[in-house]
Amino acid sequence: MDRFVINGGKPLSGTVAIGGAKNAVLAFMPATLLAPGVHRLSNTPSLRDITTMGKLLEQMGCHVSQVNDSVTIDSSTIRDFAAPYEHVKKMRASIYVLGPLVARYGQARVSLPGGCAWGPRPVNLHIEGLKVLGAEIDLDAGYIVAKAKRLEGARIVFDTSSVGATGNVAMAAVLARGTTIIENAAIEPEITALLNHLVTMGAKIHGIGSPRLEIEGVDALAPANAVMIPDRIEAGTFLVAAAICGGKKVTLERCNPAHLSAILMKLREAGAILTVGPDTVSIESPPTIRAVDVVTAVYPGFPTDMQAQWIALMAVADGQSVVTDTIYRDRFMHVPELNRLGARITLTGNVATIRGVSRLQGAKVMSTDLRASASLILAGLAAHGTTEVLRVYHLDRGYARIEQKLQQLGADIEREKREEF
Ligand code: UD1
Repeated sequence: MDRFVINGGKPLSGTVAIGGAKNAVLAFMPATLLAPGVHRLSNTPSLRDITTMGKLLEQMGCHVSQVNDSVTIDSSTIRDFAAPYEHVKKMRASIYVLGPLVARYGQARVSLPGGCAWGPRPVNLHIEGLKVLGAEIDLDAGYIVAKAKRLEGARIVFDTSSVGATGNVAMAAVLARGTTIIENAAIEPEITALLNHLVTMGAKIHGIGSPRLEIEGVDALAPANAVMIPDRIEAGTFLVAAAICGGKKVTLERCNPAHLSAILMKLREAGAILTVGPDTVSIESPPTIRAVDVVTAVYPGFPTDMQAQWIALMAVADGQSVVTDTIYRDRFMHVPELNRLGARITLTGNVATIRGVSRLQGAKVMSTDLRASASLILAGLAAHGTTEVLRVYHLDRGYARIEQKLQQLGADIEREKREEF
């Protein structure tokens, strides 16, 4: 298993290009099941999660080829309508095949995802939404078994705003008979991009970008190509890297600043100087980072996927800050590891209180999940001495070539391929 070895304390400067959004690709790939034929997705990053989704679609009979920054899927050869546990346990987003399969083929057998390393992640809203559209759903030996003739449009009111449930149910509703209303729909940019893409494929959707969607079902969709939006979490992570390391200007290229508003606002509060262009953001780090509280929220609020990275930044801020995660209340596996690097963080329920220290001290730490891993890398970049981050395969799920991109900015970080004990 690979590890990262980081010699911290190097200021960053230069430019880095942001890749396509992982969470968009993971929704666009299953959407190809809605329209048999060849679909080409470009600006797709080379990530383990995307390979996993490709393998799942291949196992269903699709032809998938991943070359450089594009994925081509021929969904016309599908012959199996199941997502086995072996795939779903590796990547929860596999649940996205459920809606398209039921809508297009009237059947699906998808393993229940179960929990995450850091806590429960239910899929009740996906299931209830599809049931409201007329799917018959049973749970059998850990699998969601769904059947339907033709789905019927209906009104669905989500009691929690859910990215995945909105995507899944919308992908089903586009082929239902009649009109579906989804209230309290997620408006995360990846969902908005997915809905716009479904329209390109021939779907009729009104209210895209708002929490009320009106979807008029159509009889068939056509294959379409798409270019992925930039990954706002990768962008946010590099901005925090620049801030935590100090130094001169770091410029992100090929990002969408409009998707980063909450993160940019918090960085400004922390003292960073930001210059925003149409698809660039430059950051100059302050000599001292101010302590800034954060409460995660659905988009356009501060993303839960940036909570761990923000805590790493606050660990070296001047003063005390409080970070509350309202989306995933247990997502704090990074806290004890950051404390091993000398951070002073206490956790009460979903609230982390961070007393900034002037310097972290390098140590061996363990990655537990994707964003926790990112926070440990950031802390290692800021720490005095050497930090080893073990089990970085989590990181490879969501950040393409992160060490090369950081090296390009002047960081001293190497990937070591070796066995762990
Ligand atoms: C997506 C993102 C993930 C991000 C999360 C929140 C993908 C592949 N993953 O995950 O990176 O952290 O959005 O922005 O896009 N909930 C229920 N029942 C459900 C579904 C969700 O109670 O059926 C709850 C969850 O426990 C959570 C909240 O709704 O508290 C939001 O979760 P959701 O938006 O569904 O997250 P995901 O789509 O799984």
